[in-house]
Amino acid sequence: MAFISHDEFEFLAGFIYRKTGIRYEFKKLYFLSKRVQKRMEELGLQTTDDYIRKLRFADPEQREFQLLLNLLTINETYFFRDFPQLQAFAENCLPEVAEKKEAAGKRNLRIWSAGCASGEEPYTIAIILLEMLENPEQWKIDIVASDIDLNMLEKAKKAVYDERSIRDVPEEYLEHYFTVSGNQYRLNSNIRRMVRMEHLNLGERESVRQKSAFDIIFCRNVLIYFDDISRKQLVDQFYVTLNPGGYIFLGSSESVGRISSAFKLKRTGNYLVYYKEEEAEL
Ligand SMILES: C[S@@+](CC[C@H](N)C(=O)[O-])C[C@H]1O[C@@H](n2cnc3c(N)ncnc32)[C@H](O)[C@@H]1O
Repeated sequence: MAFISHDEFEFLAGFIYRKTGIRYEFKKLYFLSKRVQKRMEELGLQTTDDYIRKLRFADPEQREFQLLLNLLTINETYFFRDFPQLQAFAENCLPEVAEKKEAAGKRNLRIWSAGCASGEEPYTIAIILLEMLENPEQWKIDIVASDIDLNMLEKAKKAVYDERSIRDVPEEYLEHYFTVSGNQYRLNSNIRRMVRMEHLNLGERESVRQKSAFDIIFCRNVLIYFDDISRKQLVDQFYVTLNPGGYIFLGSSESVGRISSAFKLKRTGNYLVYYKEEEAEL
């Protein structure tokens, strides 16, 4: 395979970074080359320069860019990933938010799973809501699940999973919320209906800015692919989209505190969670 040159790598990495916030270091040369090569083969292009030209000048609706992105994203995920964090959410943050909302006469909950991949995360959240809320049917629940990768969103909509995805689902939830067929597990429609899939690029400030009034945001294992600048930009935007008193959950290796001082930190059980103060100024 012909590797892309240093200059071509720099161009492509910069192009992807400006549009998505995802930062590729030079050590990712092979990773990027392989995927660009695959796209070139599909298009019948001979040189990387031709491909770059296509991206720059002959891709007005960014269809080619989207196809490249679908190959580039890392989509590892599974149900009930990071159990201790979900426990903090389920046993402390959710009841607190729900209680405050109820006291304010607002029986609605808005939750965003940003970077949802094939849907295991937002569906896990939906299961937790049904399990934890006292009368879930009396709540207006809106779970928005977004990703940049169209293939993943298709998979999420189908909601059919294999053994790997469901490996951490408690047995009684498996029986209650899934229909098993061979080695495939299909989520039941009551859970599927609770989640709304959206194609959204977290690197596009305008798209994120249009979001608002979330009680809880999950953006786990997404920011690891961003650099410090795009990470901070996004977390600052999340802060604006979150209701006062709302919580944000990132991946275990991604500390909000390192990125933004706007959020406050508190201990719930054995877990540290980040939230937006009730009296927060925008
Ligand atoms: C490793 S998965 C994490 C999935 C899930 N949040 C979890 O923790 O299990 C990362 C997801 O982030 C998505 N992603 C990466 N950059 C993105 C961007 N700029 N906008 C939206 N989604 C992005 C990828 O497509 C991928 O599906």
